[in-house]
Amino acid sequence: MAEHDPLPPSSRLLHWLVATLMLGLAGVGLYMSRSEAWALYPWHKSLGVIALLLIAVRLVQRLRLGLPGPVQPTSPAMQRAARWAHGTLLALTLLMPLSGMVFSGASGHGFGVFGLTLVPHQDDPAKPGEVLPYNATLAELGHQAHHWLGYLLLLLVTLHVLAALKHHFIDRDSTLLRMLGRKKG
Ligand code: HEM
Ligand code: HEM
Repeated sequence: MAEHDPLPPSSRLLHWLVATLMLGLAGVGLYMSRSEAWALYPWHKSLGVIALLLIAVRLVQRLRLGLPGPVQPTSPAMQRAARWAHGTLLALTLLMPLSGMVFSGASGHGFGVFGLTLVPHQDDPAKPGEVLPYNATLAELGHQAHHWLGYLLLLLVTLHVLAALKHHFIDRDSTLLRMLGRKKG
């Protein structure tokens, strides 16, 4: 495969599916936690757990195939920066759903996938209507991680999109086109 050929269809499909889920979930997460939109919580958790399955497939594929190389020769420093950014984005796709599950699970709120319970809600027998954490320290750790990694994700994705646009409009190379499944020219 030449460097400017489209990336394999499975790589492209997984990239765009996971990207859409991550951005959608980050938007919903920010909105629901600020506006107390409780009805959205089960949707966010269910789609987040489903996203984790796709993310796992994508990570296995990346471990087998490695990251795509540059479309044209670049400096070793630029190559290192791209590998570092893509590696961190991949790590965040894994850490976001995991931290959400640790938070929701350990806090006693529980979570599942569209009605199928994975970690049950735990009522506090001493305080009716309140939840009893399974592990309050772990819940707080998960909450802080989910919050701050969410901001890091949004920052890196912004840089990532700007880099893709720079490749396309300024360098005029095929970096964006090969991720869209098109050939340059
Ligand atoms: C898969 C990717 C996911 C992404 C990108 C994501 C992103 C986010 C973001 C950005 C927030 C707002 C955080 C804040 O500003 O404090 C949030 C909130 C939240 N997320 Fe996720 N999330 C994901 C998966 C999950 C999963 C799998 C669960 C649980 C099973 C979960 C549970 C929650 C909960 C309970 C909140 C509300 C936190 C609060 O009320 O303070 N998330 N999510
Ligand atoms: C509109 C948003 C996005 C655009 C325009 C975009 C564009 C691209 C492009 C053009 C590449 C190929 C880079 C190359 O060939 O060297 C790429 C790769 C990559 N992107 Fe994105 N991307 C977007 C969103 C995201 C999001 C939200 C994530 C993760 C949360 C992400 C993670 C990655 C990773 C890890 C790679 C490395 C190759 C791979 O694993 O498929 N991207 N992206």
